[in-house]
Amino acid sequence: MSGFVKVVEVGPRDGLQNEPQALPVAARVELVEQLADTGLRHIEAGAFVSPRWVPQMADSGEVLRRLGRRPGVRFSALVPNQQGLEAALAAGCEEVAVFAAASEAFSQRNINCSIADSLRRFEPVLALARERGVRVRGYVSCVLDCPYGGPVAPQRAGEVAQRLYELGCYEISLGDTLGKGTPDATARLVEHCAERLPLAALAGHFHDTFGMAVANVHAALQAGVRTFDSSLAGLGGCPYSPGASGNVATEDVLHLLHGMGYATGVDLPAVARLGTAISQRLGRPNASRAGRALAAAGGERHP
Ligand code: HMG
Ligand code: MG
Repeated sequence: MSGFVKVVEVGPRDGLQNEPQALPVAARVELVEQLADTGLRHIEAGAFVSPRWVPQMADSGEVLRRLGRRPGVRFSALVPNQQGLEAALAAGCEEVAVFAAASEAFSQRNINCSIADSLRRFEPVLALARERGVRVRGYVSCVLDCPYGGPVAPQRAGEVAQRLYELGCYEISLGDTLGKGTPDATARLVEHCAERLPLAALAGHFHDTFGMAVANVHAALQAGVRTFDSSLAGLGGCPYSPGASGNVATEDVLHLLHGMGYATGVDLPAVARLGTAISQRLGRPNASRAGRALAAAGGERHP
C-alpha cells in the first residue's frame, strides 16, 4: 500500500473535553504547538460551546488567539451554533466544525435539540463561515451505535452526512462516538455514505471502548477512507456518551498506517513522547499501546 493518509489530531478538543481535570490555557496552547511540531497538519484545538456544558473547553478563544496562524497547519474548533461561530471568528479561527448526530436521543443530550433543528441551525452558520472564508468541517456522531438508542442504521448516518455536505461542509467525519462499532459495520457504513457523497470527503472518527478502533480504521481504510481523526495517548471520550472511552490513539493509527506503507508526514516517536507526557500530567494511564511500547523501548531508538 502507498499514498498519503491525513491524520487529524483531536486530542486537545475531543480528548481534553472529557478529562476530569481542566488544563489551563497555557498548557493547552503548548500541547497544540508541540503536536504541530510533530508534523500534524490539522489539530482541533478547542470548542466554542457553552462552558456550563463542557467547562474543560472554556477559554477556547484565548487558546486559538494565542496559537495564531502557522503556515501549513490548520487549527480548528467546534461550534454548535451562530454564537459559537461568532466567538470563533473573533478569535481568528480559520476553520470550524459543526456537529450533528445520527441518533435523535444523542442529539438531544449533546446539543439540546433534534437532528433536524441542528441541521437548520447550521444553515446560517455555514453561510456566515462561507462569507468570511472560513472552512467548515462536519461531524456526525453515533454513526454506528448510540448510548441511548442502540444500533444506528447506515442510512440514517448517511442522510445526515449528506445533508452536512450539501450545506457546505468540505469533509464529514463519521464518529463512532460510543466505540461499539465493528469492522464489518464500519465497511457497510462507508460504502453507504460513499454512495451519497464523495469518498474523498469522508473521514473516520473511532473510539476504542470495545477495543475495535484500530480495526475500524483498517476497515475504513480498505473501503477507501484516507482521513482519520485520532487523539494522542487515546485521550478523551464524550461527556454525553456515558461509558465511551477515548478516541483511537494517534500513536496506534500512525503505527498501523506507517506499517502499511502509507505516508502521514507525522513523527510517531515524537507524538509518543507527547502522549507519555500528557498522560503523566493528567495522572491517567496512557491508552495508546504503541505509545506505551515505544516508551518502554525508549521511543527514539525504535521509531
Ligand atoms: P442550550 O442551553 O440549549 O443553549 O445549549 P441556549 O441557546 O438555550 O442558550 C443557553 C445559554 O448558553 C445562554 O447563556 C447562551 O448564551 C449560552 P445564558 O444566557 O444562560 O447565560 N450559549 C453559549 N455559550 C457559549 N458558546 C456557545 C453558546 N451557545 C449558547 N456556542 C448548546 C445549546 C449547543 C450551547 C449546548 O448544548 C452546548 O454547548 N453543547 C455542547 C456539547 C459538547 O460540546 N459536547 C461534546 C462535543 S460533541 C462530541 O464530542 C462528538 C464528536 O467528538 C464526534 C464523536 O466523538 O463521535 C464531535
Ligand atoms: Mg470523538
